[in-house]
Amino acid sequence: MINVAVLGYGTVGSGVVEVLSTNHESIAKRAGQEINVKYVLDLREFPGDPVEKILVHDYNVILNDPEVDIVVEVMGGLHPAYEFTKDALLAGKSVASSNKELVAKYGSELLAIAKEKNVNYLFEASVGGGIPIIRPLNQSLTADEITEITGILNGTTNYILSKMTDEGLDFDAVLKKAQEKGYAERNPEADVEGYDACRKIAILASLAYGKQVDYEDIYTEGITKISAADIEYAKKLGAAIKLFGTCKRENGTVYCMVAPFMIDDSHPLYNVNGVFNGIFVNGNMLGDTMFYGRGAGKLPTASAVVSDVVDAAKHKGTNIMTIWDSEKLTLGSMDNFTCRFFARTAAPKSDIEKVFGEVTYVDADIDGELGFITERLSNKEFEDKSANIELINRIRMTF
Ligand code: HSE
Repeated sequence: MINVAVLGYGTVGSGVVEVLSTNHESIAKRAGQEINVKYVLDLREFPGDPVEKILVHDYNVILNDPEVDIVVEVMGGLHPAYEFTKDALLAGKSVASSNKELVAKYGSELLAIAKEKNVNYLFEASVGGGIPIIRPLNQSLTADEITEITGILNGTTNYILSKMTDEGLDFDAVLKKAQEKGYAERNPEADVEGYDACRKIAILASLAYGKQVDYEDIYTEGITKISAADIEYAKKLGAAIKLFGTCKRENGTVYCMVAPFMIDDSHPLYNVNGVFNGIFVNGNMLGDTMFYGRGAGKLPTASAVVSDVVDAAKHKGTNIMTIWDSEKLTLGSMDNFTCRFFARTAAPKSDIEKVFGEVTYVDADIDGELGFITERLSNKEFEDKSANIELINRIRMTF
């Protein structure tokens, strides 16, 4: 029997207990033995809940119990999750985590400790919720050099952009509705400013290239400036606006960013709508592959965490090699990232053409302004040119 301790009985923690209970038999078969939840750690009491009998408030009870093989860290935040994880690994226990913030910041260090102690630090649920992406990158796509990972990595913003598209509403109105329905946090900053997607692409890029990608180095732009008018223009082009977390290797340099992109219907992520996430990966041998599913929510996220528990149980006494060195990967400058830009301005065509040369105009019947698409430009070229004209907004394009 494998004994598990769950740190945090919130949405994901209670989901982990539910998944382990609902699929007890099939999970036991796959793990090769029974998985028993011996402890749940939480500061709160849960009177009447079945976990009442196994609830502890002191982490040392778990740490000092040699019968606990696997710790499930679903507390979120950096502290004390970092200290708890490190102590568990040092004590020879494997850890399964959904904590993207912790993985992005301390992943390489925690993986090194796990390797030294011959245990495992697994974090399938930290990116894409229930979608398998960490294990595929680490164990399935090992024959390939990864040339690109582009994902819709945040369900809240994808829901907001999809609703804006379907209902023609502005960002603020949809955000308010999303908050009322519980699809967006009361403080939505981490989602709408792109910080959540930034941590997730930092984890994927670190795994893809085997070195530390610091999320502080990733250019990050959220969706707060996207308006109903931008979406009208996108519709005229048969396009959609999506928040991408992307990393690409071009001529040996890795570019990494989070930003809204205008994409056409030939893009594999075009039909990823609502709260769903999608992750597109290109390998130099495999070509394109796609992962799609629920990127958040109690049971999808818990399903990914429990898959790590099963993996840890199957590999007891063996470290699953994961290449993520602490050596920092220097990212290519955003100045050199090139794409076409869609832009809006109230300036006349003559001014637009004086600044940008030949452009393609887009007419969305909006009074007092024009939409246009530039030729392929580097970000630096675009920024330099736009200093000479007042733009209402600009969005990078993939087509
Ligand atoms: N707020 C995140 C999202 C939760 O909307 O995708 C999952 O990380």
